[in-house]
Amino acid sequence: MTSIWSESFILNIPVIDQQHKKFFELFEKVSEVYEKKEPEELDKLITELEDYLQYHFQSEEQLMKENGYEKYEYHKKQHEFFIKRIEEMRQEYGYMNHMLFDKIKTFIKKWFISHILHKDVDYRDAILGRSNQER
Ligand code: FEO
Repeated sequence: MTSIWSESFILNIPVIDQQHKKFFELFEKVSEVYEKKEPEELDKLITELEDYLQYHFQSEEQLMKENGYEKYEYHKKQHEFFIKRIEEMRQEYGYMNHMLFDKIKTFIKKWFISHILHKDVDYRDAILGRSNQER
C-alpha cells in the first residue's frame, strides 16, 4: 500500500510533523485490518487512533495557547468535530454498516489532509511568523 503521508504536509514544527505522520501510519493500519476483517484488532486500532489524535490535538492546542494564536477556539472546535467522526467510524463498523464505514474512512482521510494544509498551516504561519519577528 502506498503511504498517504506526503512531504507537502511538513509544517517545519518537528514534533507536530512527527505526530501527523504517525496519524497516517495508524490510519493505514486501520484500513489494512479492516480489509482483513479482524473486528477485535480493528476495534483496538480505532481506539489507538482516537487516543493518538487526542494526544496530537492537545499538543497543538498547547502550542497555540503558548503562542497566543488568535484562532485558538475555532481550531479547537475543528479538533472536537473530528474526534466525533472517529467515534462514528467505530459505530458504523459495530453496526456492520460497511458502506458507511468506507464513506467515513474516506472522509477522515480527506478532512485530515485538508486540515493540515489549511488550518494547521495557518497556526504554523502565525507562530513561526511571530518567532521570526522576535529575532
Ligand atoms: Fe494537526 Fe489541527 O491538527
